Amino acid sequence: MNETKRFNIKDINEAKSKALITEAAQLLRAGQTVAFPTETVYGLGADATNSEAVARIFQAKGRPQDNPLIAHVATKEQLKKLVTEIPDYVDKLIEKFSPGPITYVLPSNGACVDNVTAGLSTIGVRIPDHPIAIELLKACNVPIAAPSANLSGKPSPTSADHVWQDLNGRIAGIVDGGPTGVGVESTVVDCTQKIPIILRPGGVTREELENTVGPVMMDPALVDISENEKPRAPGMKYTHYAPEVPLWIIDGPLERMQEVINEQRKIGNRVGVLLSSASYPQIQADNKWILGDHIQEIASKLYDGLRYYKQSDVDIIICESFPDEGLGQAVMNRLRKAASVHLK
Ligand code: TXA
Ligand code: MG
Repeated sequence: MNETKRFNIKDINEAKSKALITEAAQLLRAGQTVAFPTETVYGLGADATNSEAVARIFQAKGRPQDNPLIAHVATKEQLKKLVTEIPDYVDKLIEKFSPGPITYVLPSNGACVDNVTAGLSTIGVRIPDHPIAIELLKACNVPIAAPSANLSGKPSPTSADHVWQDLNGRIAGIVDGGPTGVGVESTVVDCTQKIPIILRPGGVTREELENTVGPVMMDPALVDISENEKPRAPGMKYTHYAPEVPLWIIDGPLERMQEVINEQRKIGNRVGVLLSSASYPQIQADNKWILGDHIQEIASKLYDGLRYYKQSDVDIIICESFPDEGLGQAVMNRLRKAASVHLK
């Protein structure tokens, strides 16, 4: 593949930016892969009605073939055209949260090609809440399949540079719209049952969903993270978000974290830490990275933190643990998947 083309969007309202988005949409319409920003993470897009285009996504990412993709559309009307039926509670969720960081898993009507759904009878559909994504989707006027635009197994990209590090030369284009906001991916909700089931915690919290539609279940595999439960979102069974060096999560008081750091340094390991702003001054290590003040900021900087530490700098990353509630559910889910050790 040739060098990846970069489309830098400064101001979406400028004619120059509009022309760049039209050019990116033409690549997508021609069956090529183009990465673009959403409010959660960057996605790697391809025409969801063209199986050769979709196959290019799997190839570029090195993604397992059995892991289905989310179809992205610009409007509620377009979303409804991809599925056979919409239960009442989904209508309420769409009214409240879309556009936004939520993906509805619904029975597919076959409008998207089979490799989008990895042969499943259901399809994940979402309307991203990002002006560039919406402009691009409108210009394409077809549903766009888009997983996170990282190499499979790596942390998801929250900037165009992250996408460039992983996929330069492997994809046709990157639309650079600056850093994304939410920082963790959309909440994936199975909407094929009477009660919605969260398959992947994400930008919309369980509490927010329950305030809108009443009780919401969690996929048992999210609660029992041993091998006993098989996740219902195929992608949740894979190792993910892996940084370059091993990551440990330490629950409990900061004194305990400091003890573990000291033990690691004693055996000659260089330790990098990921901390909230409040914990930052209280911990000594070889290298320190602040995730942020509050859980929204921590979510938005999490993947930057996981990508920050290189083998040349540290031998181990140690991260503090955050309360498993609200947006913290998504943050802890990603950290547990990225970590090789979790000291509880
Ligand atoms: O925020 C996001 O959702 C981002 C941006 C780019 O939109 N996309 C994203 O896609 O995170 P991806 O492919 O990295 O993760 C999609 C997740 C996977 O765990 C996949 O298995 C699950 O959604 N999924 C997709 N379609 C599904 C389906 N029909 N049934 C069950 N799980 C599904
Ligand atoms: Mg992903």
